[in-house]
Amino acid sequence: MNAPAPLIAGNWKMHGTDASLAEARAVGEGAWPDGVRVALCPPATLIERMARALAGSKVLVGGQDCHPEPQGAHTGDVSAEMLAEAGAQLVILGHSERRAAHGETDATVAAKVEAALRAGLEPIVCVGETLAEREGGQALDVVTRQVRLSLPDSVSTHPFTVAYEPVWAIGTGLTPSLADIEAVHRALRTALVDRFGETGARVAILYGGSVKPANAREILAVPEVGGALVGGASLKAADFLGIVAGASGA
Ligand code: 13P
Repeated sequence: MNAPAPLIAGNWKMHGTDASLAEARAVGEGAWPDGVRVALCPPATLIERMARALAGSKVLVGGQDCHPEPQGAHTGDVSAEMLAEAGAQLVILGHSERRAAHGETDATVAAKVEAALRAGLEPIVCVGETLAEREGGQALDVVTRQVRLSLPDSVSTHPFTVAYEPVWAIGTGLTPSLADIEAVHRALRTALVDRFGETGARVAILYGGSVKPANAREILAVPEVGGALVGGASLKAADFLGIVAGASGA
């Protein structure tokens, strides 16, 4: 059974203008262990320019959301096909900020995953419990339900990635204990293998939430952690490359 290639992905959220492309270029010029995949996901407006700035580098470029339909009367939305045309190869879907602020349900996320696959994008599907759910002892139930309902059957024949991001760890400086991260990742792995067999065994399961250069190495060494989804610390190339340096190739 091949281990998945680790992926370190930066989620720039609603940060990034032309001036930020220098940071992306600096990531592109960085070095990292063989077999580690590195991606940056800027706002949709910056994808095309970032893809151009990173042409010739090994850095992948991704979106942060897409609409389920390829086109239509959906003011303000961007389709998966549009992201792909702009130069994206991946797309983050079901981030907790979108689930919370835009009312995205697991069914919405599953429809977006279908759209990403249709457009040839690799989805990074996010799951994670709230603080109340963790304190109520429901974390494993919540994330395994989210991963089951947010992934359509069709992913089994495409590359896809799952990201575990506890809502209470995002942007707070808090992280779960390494044992708690391992417990969630093991539960997600079991759910993925039960559903998709060998394919489920090869899916990278990222951890996200307050990953920094100082804690990346120990988090990335946790069994079943196949990379990181990084918010704030991905905005500066030096920090992001410090995190990437903590990954070891498959
Ligand atoms: P922070 O790394 O800023 O906590 O954000 C994590 C995140 O939401 C990545 O998608």
